[in-house]
Amino acid sequence: MSVAEIFETMEYGPAPEDARPALDWIASHGGRFGCHIDGRFADPGEAFATRNPATGDALAEVTQAAPADIGAAIAAARRAQKGWEAMGGPGRARILYALARLVQKQSRLFAVLETLDTGKPIRESRDIDIPLVARHFYYHAGMAQLMPEALPDARALGVCGQVIPWNFPLLMLSWKVAPALAMGNTVVLKPAEWTPLTALLFADLAGQAGLPPGVLNIVTGDGAVGEALVAAPVDKIAFTGSTPVGRAIRRATAGTGKALSLELGGKSPYIVFDDADIDSAVEGLVDAIWFNGGQVCCAGSRLLVHEGIADDLHNRLRARMDRLRIGDPLDKCIDMGAIADPVQAGRIAAMVEDAPGEVYRPATPLPERGAWCAPTLITGLHPSDRLMQEEIFGPVLVGTTFRTPDEAASLANNTRYGLAATVWTENVNLALDIAPKLHSGIVWVNGTNMMDAAAGFGGVKESGFGREGGWEGLRGYVRTGDPGQKLQPVAAVPAPDEARADALDRTAKLYIGGRQARPDGGYSRAVWGRDGRLLGHAGLANRKDVRNAVEAARGAAAWSRTTGHARAQILYFIAENLDARAAEFAARLRDMTGAGDNDARAEVAASVDRLFTWAAWADKHDGAVKGVPIRGVALAMNEPLGVIGQFAPDTAPLLGLVAIVAPAIAMGNRAVTVASQPFPLAATDFYQVLDTSDLPGGVVNILTGDHAELAPHLAGHADVDACWSFSSSDISAVIERESAGNLKRTWVNNGHARDWSRADSAAFLAHSTEIKTVWVPYGE
Ligand code: NAI
Repeated sequence: MSVAEIFETMEYGPAPEDARPALDWIASHGGRFGCHIDGRFADPGEAFATRNPATGDALAEVTQAAPADIGAAIAAARRAQKGWEAMGGPGRARILYALARLVQKQSRLFAVLETLDTGKPIRESRDIDIPLVARHFYYHAGMAQLMPEALPDARALGVCGQVIPWNFPLLMLSWKVAPALAMGNTVVLKPAEWTPLTALLFADLAGQAGLPPGVLNIVTGDGAVGEALVAAPVDKIAFTGSTPVGRAIRRATAGTGKALSLELGGKSPYIVFDDADIDSAVEGLVDAIWFNGGQVCCAGSRLLVHEGIADDLHNRLRARMDRLRIGDPLDKCIDMGAIADPVQAGRIAAMVEDAPGEVYRPATPLPERGAWCAPTLITGLHPSDRLMQEEIFGPVLVGTTFRTPDEAASLANNTRYGLAATVWTENVNLALDIAPKLHSGIVWVNGTNMMDAAAGFGGVKESGFGREGGWEGLRGYVRTGDPGQKLQPVAAVPAPDEARADALDRTAKLYIGGRQARPDGGYSRAVWGRDGRLLGHAGLANRKDVRNAVEAARGAAAWSRTTGHARAQILYFIAENLDARAAEFAARLRDMTGAGDNDARAEVAASVDRLFTWAAWADKHDGAVKGVPIRGVALAMNEPLGVIGQFAPDTAPLLGLVAIVAPAIAMGNRAVTVASQPFPLAATDFYQVLDTSDLPGGVVNILTGDHAELAPHLAGHADVDACWSFSSSDISAVIERESAGNLKRTWVNNGHARDWSRADSAAFLAHSTEIKTVWVPYGE
């Protein structure tokens, strides 16, 4: 056949990759694997088969880890951790470099084994997965090298339990293992039951790179093993997988003090405007939804296309689909391989059965053996159709049309997920106007599914929290500062046996939407001074008040779009107005807490100073530009989270309040803040300062009442985006557990005190913002 004929028919191939070296490696272990613990394979236990989904043939037998395996793996990791951390960043960097080189040296073996176990095309495992694995280890070797200088206060968390899915087995391992190890942690990792082999190969070879025994341990098995690992005595859980399991893990770790990062599902929009280069948008769609058979958490699975070009784009897309080559994943000419497991293929088929809309599938026959699914396009759907809302996790693109950019953004955001979004347009103004409006952790402009070790990856809303990659990814693997003293519950001043005669009976109302509001239940409690005086009454907020406050905060969304400069002005104004009433506030603190005169004045002065600090930060928490080895740059933009529910510390009733409200609003969030439970009147005085400082109504809402009673309502509210607690009441666990509903971010004290004399800017900046990574074309 001549080259000209090949171009005409595209009938090239097949060009199969040789599977033998990978099969030989399996055979060299007798085809049966135990867990890899403390630098060696443990004896195999109760086993299950892992299969090649393209053929259904068994590849190997893998152990269903028993509790003893998990215990041994954690013990090994614990033993190894001190030495690994003590080796120092540069020492660990050498080993991470060596691991990167090892992956490159063995890249063919890894790629072939990955393709055998997952069914993904060798073109992808060879050109994308494995090179990105090496890149991750190189990049994080650099992070280990720089750690002493760049992160001098950071220390390892300890032992990390990591649970990963089956769509990018070795790549997900590298995303989890490289930063953990770089920062001096040790790891127990559970690969997915369908795809455990490359993790075992990696652990098998890692000793050659000098990785000490026990630093990385692999336990294999199904979800029950994952569940046991989550429950085991580890310091952190990092999980990638489905949203329901992420939610279960959030509940299981609530109140344990374990750090947690969750990278969950998505239903990412792929928006094509009418000025887009349609052919490149079509080619982008091939990468968006047929890459790895659409089994990609950030897959561009929801096509939103400008009405005027919809027919044209759909026609070109159908023509392109007809040319997709589906078949033997080891064939280098294949575009789409098998689905990872017949179970997953069955789930996809069940979801698209009886689909509404117009369904298109190419006529190309699928292989008879194995797990397959045809590339599918379903157009003309209603935005609320199940297929437009639920993750299919297969090669199924669903879509609808829009008329205006605003409609595109609102359709894009009409989902409980918020992982990624793609914008296709030749108009840079339009692209950069839409990017900030999209509720997602990642936005790609005129490109899609781009990932790199330097660029943060992770979602918002029910796509989870935490970032992987970049400096921001390291935050999830280090601790800074000491945990602080154990916090003793702070009780309110009890009613005196005999009240003093000069009692002033004023009931402080709640502050909702910029107005004073009577508590819904009509209850209040007396606040007594240390000297037996009745200082007033404070309202007892209930669930309905929480709802009203959250609604007011949601209504104040415009605050999140104001400039940092404008927010700074208002914070300075609040500071000035507080300063003007310093004596009055000091007297209040003295009366409520019994603080000495100097201490009370010092708390007010510190509060004024803290407001100045956050006014200063309001326009300075700049993002970053990440150099990525792909044409373009990745912008790391710090965005507000939205509505933050807060439980103020019980001590330092004014400074503690200011210390948590000011950073939140400085970064563009709106706050629903529950004041110090025993000493609420500093907060109710403070809203009078807010009233005179041009702060728009609803940006700060102040409730008073019982922390334990309000915690489940605020933490469980679906319109609250994050929940913090510095309370001395024991509410950390309930907040973490209730947050699982919409998977909001939490920041709780787990019963530890905090030094409110320090602004602790880095921590508050990180907890008040979310990084959105925006990939834009740049340079050659
Ligand atoms: P899954 O979330 O059940 O599995 C992911 C990992 O979690 C596996 O290693 C599994 O063994 C483990 N696991 C399962 N239950 C666990 C538990 N209770 N505690 C701890 N670990 C547990 O995902 P599955 O069932 O394999 O796929 C179901 C759906 O999830 C897919 O159709 C897809 O929609 C979504 N998914 C999303 C992924 C993503 O990257 N966002 C990856 C894999 C699946």
